[in-house]
Amino acid sequence: MMKISGVRIVIVGGGSSYTPELVMGLLEAQRLSVDTLTLVDVPAGQEKMDIVAHFCRRLIKKAGSAIRLETTYDRKGALAQADFVLTQFRVGGLAARAQDERIPLRYGAVGQETVGAGGFAKALRTIPVALELAKELETVNPNAWLINFTNPSGMVTQALLRHTAIRSIGLCNVPITIARTIAKALAVDPEAVSLDMFGLNHLSFVRGIYVNGQNITSLVLEFLKNPQTAVANIPDQQWNAEVIGALGMVPNPYLQYYWNPGEMVQRQRQEVEAGRGTRADIVMKVEQELFADYRNPEQVTLPEALMRRGGAYYSAVAVMLIESLALNQRQEIIVNVRNGQALPELPEDSVVEVPAMVDGRGAIPLTCGPMPASVRGLIQHVKAYEELTIDAAVTGSRQTALAALMNNPLVPSEEVARYILRDILQEHAAWLPQFA
Ligand code: G6P
Repeated sequence: MMKISGVRIVIVGGGSSYTPELVMGLLEAQRLSVDTLTLVDVPAGQEKMDIVAHFCRRLIKKAGSAIRLETTYDRKGALAQADFVLTQFRVGGLAARAQDERIPLRYGAVGQETVGAGGFAKALRTIPVALELAKELETVNPNAWLINFTNPSGMVTQALLRHTAIRSIGLCNVPITIARTIAKALAVDPEAVSLDMFGLNHLSFVRGIYVNGQNITSLVLEFLKNPQTAVANIPDQQWNAEVIGALGMVPNPYLQYYWNPGEMVQRQRQEVEAGRGTRADIVMKVEQELFADYRNPEQVTLPEALMRRGGAYYSAVAVMLIESLALNQRQEIIVNVRNGQALPELPEDSVVEVPAMVDGRGAIPLTCGPMPASVRGLIQHVKAYEELTIDAAVTGSRQTALAALMNNPLVPSEEVARYILRDILQEHAAWLPQFA
């Protein structure tokens, strides 16, 4: 039975550098009362989890909160006790991510954690582990909610909903970041801003922007078209005025990989050649700093280095979602959810990223279709790729894996697809037992 207050939260991947921010979000939550927070990780992550747990206990103590924070390696035991399970684990760690980013770059393709062939490799490693966890949850605690943050968030959530019976919702921080950025620019209450946004995780479009129900879309589009204001005020939204005009929508920042792959490859290669490495290499350095701060017994606030870690507002959206589900408090939140009829041009059982009405029953997607022709094809194309990737991750079929990569718009040719697949299966063999 779901409790009204005193919720029990389990974080899988609890030793992550993100955990303290989440704890802070829970401490600041106005309406939610958390009883127990259990961090779960693999034994290899013991050192990180211990550091994170000690730091989080200091944050809890400083806030004068009664939240009990526990750590365990007994995942099944923890799952059995949870009201909410938050997944943020990284199979193979950042070292595997660095490899995901480097392999496509060898062949002139985008090397990124979630989109392109890098996201494909991460999906192959992650989906079987997510399903194993979800099947455990199904057995020991089928009424718990699983809130997935693990990337690629849309594909992992689709795999969970398609292959298990658990209650799962996928989250990403991009929609809330856009909404909060607009609220800040307009100096209005963050809750006053709502977005008409549709698509897939990291492939979405803001079609409408409302403040207290008033449509301000054209105002924001004009603002973004003006080079004086756009670049300075909305990070990652450096779109050409003509592109904004042609679409009449604000694209998710990840669209830069789909529309400017050549430039992105060039930039990524330059970073590697200059010795700075890929994004994973940079994140590893930031994490070293972060863990040094977390380890410091004097540290009782979130360190400055967290600002450079990425994932802004991730805890805010997680807390909003948990509050709605736990307190049956109806709110519109943009989540990754089973499509149903929300986007009629996509299969009903695929996962889409759209606004949903969330309350104690779960997330019910709002009707968002039809999709404009300007972006419909790309979204359908990527959804077909995602479907094939999930099948490949589950079955371990090389043929399906190759078909998936050939369907990824960021893989330039069938020849490159074959080389990339060969390298992924060889270099990640330890993480891909389903292909053995
Ligand atoms: C964005 C994405 C997330 C990603 C986060 C951190 O907000 O939506 O999927 O996890 O950034 O990315 P980073 O490259 O800094 O690890």
